Amino acid sequence: MKLFRRPSSAPLWQDEFSVFTAGERYVNRRQFTKFLTLTSLAMFVGNLWILARSWFYRAPAYPRRVVARADELAVGGTRIFDYPAAGMSCILVRTATDSWVAYSQKCTHLSCAVYYAKEQDRLECPCHQGFFSIADGAVLQGPPRRPLPRVRLERLGGELIAVRMEGEGA
Ligand code: FES
Repeated sequence: MKLFRRPSSAPLWQDEFSVFTAGERYVNRRQFTKFLTLTSLAMFVGNLWILARSWFYRAPAYPRRVVARADELAVGGTRIFDYPAAGMSCILVRTATDSWVAYSQKCTHLSCAVYYAKEQDRLECPCHQGFFSIADGAVLQGPPRRPLPRVRLERLGGELIAVRMEGEGA
C-alpha cells in the first residue's frame, strides 16, 4: 500500500526512497523501540564474544631455538636471526664477555629495521632517528613510544637459545 503519491513535479528518483519527508512522522514508537532493542542485542552479543575470547585466550607457545654459539661473536658483535617464525627478524648483540641480549629488529614506530651502534652502545633506527637502550630495549629518543620486544635467551652449554618473546603487546 502506498501512503503517498509522488507529486507530479517531484523527480523520478524519489520513488526509490520509501520515506518521504511528509511521512517521517509515521516511523512510530514501536519501530523505534524495535530498532533500539535489536541494536542493544547486537552490542550485547558482541560484548559476550569479546568476553569469551578473553576467557579462552592462550598465550602463544614459543619455540626453543638455538640462535648462536656463545663464542661465535666478539664483544660488540651482532647476529641477525629469525624468531619466533621465519621472516621475523631479531638482532643478537654480545654486550660483554659473558652477556648477550636480543631484540626484535622491527622498530616500534613504523617497522624499519634497527641496528646496533657500537660506539653509542644502543640500537638505532635509521628512518626517524629512534634510539633504544641496549640494556632493556627502552626508548631513548625519537618517535617510537614502545620499547623493542625482547627475546629471552638461555645459555645451555656453549649455545644461546631463544625461549620466548617479551613485551610484544606492550
Ligand atoms: S620507523 Fe623507527 S623511528 Fe620511525
